Amino acid sequence: MTDHHIALIPGDGIGAEVLPPAQQVLDAVGARHGFAFTYTSYDWSCERYVREGAMMPEDGLDQLRDKDAILLGAVGYPGVPDHVSLWGLLIPIRRSFRQYVNLRPIRVFEGVASPLRAAAAGEVDFVVVRENVEGEYSEIGGRLNRGFPEEMAVQESVFTRGGVTRVLDYAFELAAQRGRKLTSATKSNGIVHTLPFWDELVAERGAVHPQVAWDQEHIDALAAKFVLDPARFDVVVASNLFGDILSDLAAAVAGSIGIAPAANLNPEREFPSMFEPVHGSAPDIAGRGVANPLGAIWSAAMMLDHLGHPEAAKEVTDAIAAVLAKTDVRTPDLGGSATTTEFAEKLLELL
Ligand code: NAD
Ligand code: IPM
Ligand code: MN
Repeated sequence: MTDHHIALIPGDGIGAEVLPPAQQVLDAVGARHGFAFTYTSYDWSCERYVREGAMMPEDGLDQLRDKDAILLGAVGYPGVPDHVSLWGLLIPIRRSFRQYVNLRPIRVFEGVASPLRAAAAGEVDFVVVRENVEGEYSEIGGRLNRGFPEEMAVQESVFTRGGVTRVLDYAFELAAQRGRKLTSATKSNGIVHTLPFWDELVAERGAVHPQVAWDQEHIDALAAKFVLDPARFDVVVASNLFGDILSDLAAAVAGSIGIAPAANLNPEREFPSMFEPVHGSAPDIAGRGVANPLGAIWSAAMMLDHLGHPEAAKEVTDAIAAVLAKTDVRTPDLGGSATTTEFAEKLLELL
């Protein structure tokens, strides 16, 4: 029996409410397919920060290093500044484990009322490939002259040939597998150094992947097309910040941010990859037991795929589709009145 050792980091707010259902789903499909999970759970969170002055222990990354994968809920809570909590836990994991691809699939499921008629069920099925370790998320910069009229803040963006090329190659290969096309998001009319460099590298990698049709769009126009005509997209590759914004936008177009999953991948498998819903800790609904668990469950399905269990992964995404199409049990973000637990139990019945 294959055994997978998973690091669980529930984190803050609804993070701790959506991970248990994901774990139940993993155990259920594992039992059916003849593999099992062992979990090590870590209390790394804003609560720990307040108690001990750090989001995770000094050797935290070393504790994760030997795990097969990491399943994370969400990080960040009022009381601890977001840049402190996120740069104390989530971002160091992404960077230290070279999780340079952040894969964020979007589907409009039958039974989900997308706010847009254009996004009919079944027609929208695309993936945002977000560069996950460089770009606009660099700690290079500083604050000067604090408190004076000439106070200033500077933050550099970092785009490297190697860093951009590897995520573009991942995106081109994914587009080749899916048999459709690649769209690159930039803004080279306004940003004159980094994003023209990105565009040049897209053209360069496009020549290496001649089987893939590709185009590029300015991020502003692309955002409008995500809303007006989301069915036209297949694989969308974007920098760290643009990919972040596009993935929340796409999730909203698909009906709720509560459904959207993410895989932070280290494609070379030198280190564990990390799976987490796109959403955050949602302090506005935390503690009420009404968070949508589908984003976490779909993220667990992406983890199954990564661990070499594509059939089990498909059973999970099929159960997500089934609970939405065949029942009216759903959490309030999808217009229902079910709790997290009721929704997850219905899904487990259909699994
Ligand atoms: P958020 O995603 O937590 O919430 C945005 C809105 O979506 C809220 O109205 C919330 O109630 C709703 N929502 C989110 N997930 C939901 C779910 N599963 N079911 C139903 N409704 C859901 O974004 P935010 O408010 O900008 O951030 C809150 C905190 O989370 C901040 O500290 C932020 O930095 C952090 N954050 C962490 C991650 C992460 O750990 N990966 C991601 C995003 C935000
Ligand atoms: C996400 C989040 C994080 C990001 C934040 C909380 C730092 O928004 O995972 O999408 O921007 O990467
Ligand atoms: Mn985000």
